[in-house]
Amino acid sequence: MKIFLDTSKIDEMKKWSHIIDGVTTNPSILKKEGGNIEEICEYINPLPVSVESGGDFYLEAMELWDWLHPLNPNLAIKVPFLKPNGKDNLQVIDTLIREGVTINCTATFNFNQVLLATKLGCRYISLFVGRIDDEGGDGLDIAESCASSVSMSSFVNKVRHDRTIMDQELILGSIRSPKDVDRYVKAVHDNIESSIITIPPTVLEKMTQHRYAQETSKQFEDDYVSVVTLKGLKDTQKALEIPHPIAGN
Ligand code: E4P
Repeated sequence: MKIFLDTSKIDEMKKWSHIIDGVTTNPSILKKEGGNIEEICEYINPLPVSVESGGDFYLEAMELWDWLHPLNPNLAIKVPFLKPNGKDNLQVIDTLIREGVTINCTATFNFNQVLLATKLGCRYISLFVGRIDDEGGDGLDIAESCASSVSMSSFVNKVRHDRTIMDQELILGSIRSPKDVDRYVKAVHDNIESSIITIPPTVLEKMTQHRYAQETSKQFEDDYVSVVTLKGLKDTQKALEIPHPIAGN
């Protein structure tokens, strides 16, 4: 299971660099958090990054690809499954893929949308599980069936028409809490190799915390200090004067 970071903040990418396998952005994240997509693509390289197109999806996606792909060969251009007018972007996506653009088909909400995007050969298909739950839908059930469909297609659908299809992965997006992470990762467990969860930094931070973990650590620290002092080891340790490899620790 890969973990992507759902953010446009480079300081968060830096902070979580030892954990994450890639980054996803979208226009709303960029509007809220700021950031420069050129810098993001360069900074995160060689990890994958998704940047979303808008307006005339074909022209904007081509422009983003020509501009940013030289900065990060693992760039994917996000194209929403539906346009703002409700028409689908399938033909646009198909043309872009034929022209060599790596696509993350985003804002999918049900099994059939994921099935069609997978069939086209999108590198990533982003399923917005949190928003499905917001509407009273069963995000868990949809995530489970989509993960299995993407995994199977990625295996079976290697060559279609005149082109080879790359590995395909389902991205679970719209994650709101550590509990979401827990239940969604379990839901796609059988297809973990072709599943990704993209998590906002705030949720990742909460995932590290547990009140009793801190209390327990504190208890061990207090006892460590008294034991080390008793044994007279403290001076020996100091004498070694090993420079600490991790800043701020
Ligand atoms: C995924 O790639 C999207 O950027 C994101 O997860 C959307 O989440 P939201 O529902 O919080 O906007």
